[in-house]
Formats: sequence, C-alpha cells, structure tokens
Amino acid sequence: MNELRKIVVASGNKNKIREISEIFNGVEIVSMQELGFDGDIPETGETFKDNAYIKAKFIAERFNVYALADDSGLCVTALGGAPGVYSARFSGGGDKANRDLLLIRLEGAADRSAYFESAVCLCRPDGTAVFGEGRTHGKILYEETGENGFGYDCLFYSDDLEKSFGTATAEEKNGVSHRFRALSDLRRKL
Ligand code: IMP
Repeated sequence: MNELRKIVVASGNKNKIREISEIFNGVEIVSMQELGFDGDIPETGETFKDNAYIKAKFIAERFNVYALADDSGLCVTALGGAPGVYSARFSGGGDKANRDLLLIRLEGAADRSAYFESAVCLCRPDGTAVFGEGRTHGKILYEETGENGFGYDCLFYSDDLEKSFGTATAEEKNGVSHRFRALSDLRRKL
C-alpha cells in the first residue's frame, strides 16, 4: 500500500498509539483527538473483528482518511470464551471488579487456560478494509501478581514470558502481546 502516508488511530490511548507508531514506522500516526473528535464510538459488534471495523470505518468515512482501530479482550476456556468482547464490561464495575468476578467464576475450575485476542482493522476512506488478528496464550492465576499493565494483566500468566503480565515490563509484554501480533499480521498484508 504505497499510498499509505498517514493513519488516524480510532483511540486516544497513548500506549496503543506508541505501539502502532513502532510497527508502522515511516507512516505519520495521528490520534482521532488531534482531528477534533473525542466521542465514544459504540462497540455493538459480536466479535473483536466487527468492533474494530465499526470503529475504523466510522473515523475513515467521517474524516476521509485511513483509520486504524483495534478491539481486544480476554477469552477463558473454562468460561466458553467469556468475557471476550465484554471484557471491559464483564462485571459492570471497573478493572478491579472485573478481576474479582473472574476469580469467583473460576473457583473450582481445573482448566485455567486463557488467551488475549486482538483484532485490528485498517479502513480506507471508501470503507474497504484490511484486518489483522493476534493472540497471546497463558493461564489465569489464583491471585493478583504484580502491578504493571492494566485490565486483567496481573491475573494473566504468560506462557511466552513464563511470568505474569503484571510483573512484566512494557517492553517484555509488547514483544508477545496480542495487539503486537495483530498489528504485525496487518502490516504483512499491506
Ligand atoms: P480495549 O480493546 O482496549 O477496549 O480492551 C477491552 C478490555 O479487554 C480492556 O478493558 C481489558 O479489560 C481487556 N484487555 C484487553 N487487552 C488487555 C491487555 O493487554 N491486558 C489486560 N487486559 C486487556
């Protein structure tokens, strides 16, 4: 995609924007806030891919730009893949309430395997899109371990790093993360 000079990211998250800049080096990365849009785009899809597309398409069409969006969450085998696309809204409370509920739901479960999944979408101004997907596998710990990261990180033992994401540095996590893998997958397809 030689015409790709600038990408607007459908997120205000600085960590995400930095990760995207590292993978798409040579491309100007701009946040949607820099275009003057700070609203919430409703995530009404049933899959990570649907939600990434909804967000990217909204920004691409509204501002006539190439837009990139991601959607991600935690999928737990013993819970049939839940909380999945509802990861942020699992308990109806915040991150801590989500983690507490996860531990309660897993009481007595023999299988604690889980993975984080990310879908990313690059949408062109005409609405056509390219997708990338990535996963990172691990297990749900019995108690919170470490204070790094966000969301479910301190409950997630990474098979790749052989430690909790809560005790991993940002560099360590970014090297194996679902989002990094999804962005690399997308980059390869362009
Ligand atoms: P979003 O795709 O950034 O909106 O993330 C959705 C939700 O999934 C977050 O609120 C977290 O609960 C969870 N999640 C996604 N990625 C991660 C991660 O790398 N670590 C911990 N939790 C995550």
